Amino acid sequence: MSIITSNEIDLVKAQTSKINAVDFDNLDFGRVFTDHMFVCDFKDGKWQKPQILPYQAMSFEPSARVFHYGQAVFEGMKAYKDNNGKVFLFRPDQNFERINKSAARMAIPGFPKDYFFNGLETLLNLDKDWIKSGLDNSLYLRPFVIATEPAISASPANEYRFMIICSPAKAYYNEPVRVLFAEKFSRSADGGVGFAKAAGNYGAQFYPTSLAQEKGFQQIIWTDASTHDYLEEAGTMNIFFRIGNKLITAPNNDRILDGVTRKSVIQLAEDLGIECEVRRISVKEIKDSARDGSLKEIFGAGTAAVISPVSAFGHGDEVFEIPENQDSYSKLFKSTLLSIQHNKIDDKHGWRHEVK
Ligand code: COI
Repeated sequence: MSIITSNEIDLVKAQTSKINAVDFDNLDFGRVFTDHMFVCDFKDGKWQKPQILPYQAMSFEPSARVFHYGQAVFEGMKAYKDNNGKVFLFRPDQNFERINKSAARMAIPGFPKDYFFNGLETLLNLDKDWIKSGLDNSLYLRPFVIATEPAISASPANEYRFMIICSPAKAYYNEPVRVLFAEKFSRSADGGVGFAKAAGNYGAQFYPTSLAQEKGFQQIIWTDASTHDYLEEAGTMNIFFRIGNKLITAPNNDRILDGVTRKSVIQLAEDLGIECEVRRISVKEIKDSARDGSLKEIFGAGTAAVISPVSAFGHGDEVFEIPENQDSYSKLFKSTLLSIQHNKIDDKHGWRHEVK
């Protein structure tokens, strides 16, 4: 193994690449990982020197606090390659800020900005062959932090590991999704951690989602925990409704993830002259608009999901099918977003970040 020590990162290169064994046309989301990973430990009150290592299994003591108290946060980002081989990130500053907001809520120390960006860029330069060009290809990046200190008293850890792993990705949802509006279970509550990308926010959805799947729905649209009357987010994505020609999405609050794709769609709507209201949206309003035919579309927006159309929603015993729309906003937002991300059209908001 060659060990290169720079001022910023200790680098151990993989001896051989796994890339030739990968079928890039048939990728199941999040199952294949690139040759390298970024690792940085926190101990003695500070983040230690970062490393890039061959992607590999790690060992932790069974008492590591993450296993007991779920002290863990993560991010979802993507790298894109244009037709000339240039690599781009999309609004990475937003992910950097958000992981530190999530960390603060979970009593995890903030990660330094230069470590984050040097780590990402060095990793992407090493593994750039794993990023394929073309609008349906990307490299999904998963920065995350876990509490590694071997101690099981219920208190914040003194030791953590920050990592970035990378997985080549195609679509997260291959088909339009059927969603169920939540009536009993809740994803988050006022004063809770719903706004954070805390690992437990996702794990806690698996059981209710599996019940919804038994009824033929792939995802739940979470409603407010106190009344279940207002629609909030889908758990893997934020959610937009189109009534007539107007878009509506729920406002950010401490129950809802401040999605990067969500805020980009709101901006693109303004650029494209599409009216977008950010306000509370009731289950009743959506059911009434489905009944009178004014509900034209529902779609989710997220990094992994990009823009995912919803083909039907359920509430109680009722199911409402949403007919496919000819002048679909979701297609328009998806193609505009992907074209910006892949350096195909002008980036007037400065969202692209070239990896040099
Ligand atoms: C993302 O879109 O990056 C997410 O974090 C959703 C994920 C649970 C796949």
